[in-house]
Amino acid sequence: MPFWCVAVDLAIETIDLTKQYGSLTAVNKLNLRVECGSIHGFLGPNGAGKSTTIKILVGLLKATQGSAKVLGQEVHVDQADARLSIGYMPELPRFPNHLKGAELLDVYGRMYGMNPQERQTQIPRLIDLVGLKGRENDLIGKYSKGMQQRIGIAQALLNNPQLVILDEPSIGLDPVGMVEVRELVKAISKEGMTVFVSSHLLYEVEQICSHVTIINRGQALVSDTLETVSQMISGPTVMQVEVVNLSGATVAAVKALSPVKEATKSGNMLNVSLSTREDVRAEVSQAITKSGGIIVGMTQKGHSLEDVFIQLINKRQEGSAQ
Ligand SMILES: Nc1ncnc2c1ncn2[C@@H]1O[C@H](COP(=O)(O)OP(=O)(O)OP(=O)(O)O)[C@@H](O)[C@H]1O
Ligand SMILES: [Mg+2]
Repeated sequence: MPFWCVAVDLAIETIDLTKQYGSLTAVNKLNLRVECGSIHGFLGPNGAGKSTTIKILVGLLKATQGSAKVLGQEVHVDQADARLSIGYMPELPRFPNHLKGAELLDVYGRMYGMNPQERQTQIPRLIDLVGLKGRENDLIGKYSKGMQQRIGIAQALLNNPQLVILDEPSIGLDPVGMVEVRELVKAISKEGMTVFVSSHLLYEVEQICSHVTIINRGQALVSDTLETVSQMISGPTVMQVEVVNLSGATVAAVKALSPVKEATKSGNMLNVSLSTREDVRAEVSQAITKSGGIIVGMTQKGHSLEDVFIQLINKRQEGSAQ
């Protein structure tokens, strides 16, 4: 456990946190508890209230009701010094295109009140950490989306924060970029920081987080360790593929893929049971086509975020009926 967590063991704590935009309740009596040292995934579909919650936590928005504590301190809007111990990367950060990556970090470093020596040590270290070494003197306008997200993460880490809040850091990235961001989040956590990261992708959160809160329509459906949440989401993911020329060789080729637990043939239907919740349609179709099969239809069932919500809501109703 990092040394600063001796006094507080919760990096974030909200009590009945509520935010209304006119008649719309974006965050509804949310009770969040984020343990120090954890990587806590904040998972929910579009419009669930993730960014609104995060903006309240970093002091950019005022809650309508309820309270929030960050690193043991009550959150107040525009309290700049409280923000010094928090690193924040907003959703889809946009930085001035005319600045070079290193220049941007220097501007932010000055805003944080870092002296020239601190900036000289910290900036190259972070550029290296986020994998932008060699590109730090390129204009941000020439950065790819992935590089822009990474410079955004470096910006969030500049002041050696105790808590890093990342709002959808992998949105808009291709699969390779997403893997890189996941690795980066793990690296940040290894440096001893608590990470609170929002996402709308279940499999992404599953791969990096120790704790998960699932939010829908402003309310937490579940908030627990990843292990407990995973146990609540039972059953395998299944894929059904309709194939012309469905041979034994095709069944064997699909079965040999690492995310496939079982593949069985029923007429021209290939039923595939998966051990992952990642989208593996491309991998499966390639194996089928290479082994001579012709795909005429494909569905992947189970464990989209929506399926998980339905399961969790049903479980909740069963629980309250007892
Ligand atoms: N400034 C605003 N004024 C009015 N309504 C807003 C405002 N910001 C957000 N909302 C509404 O509040 C709800 C929650 O939005 P929020 O951006 O917090 O969701 P989110 O979970 O971050 O979604 P996404 O995954 O799309 O980023 C949505 O219904 C949204 O339309
Ligand atoms: Mg958002």
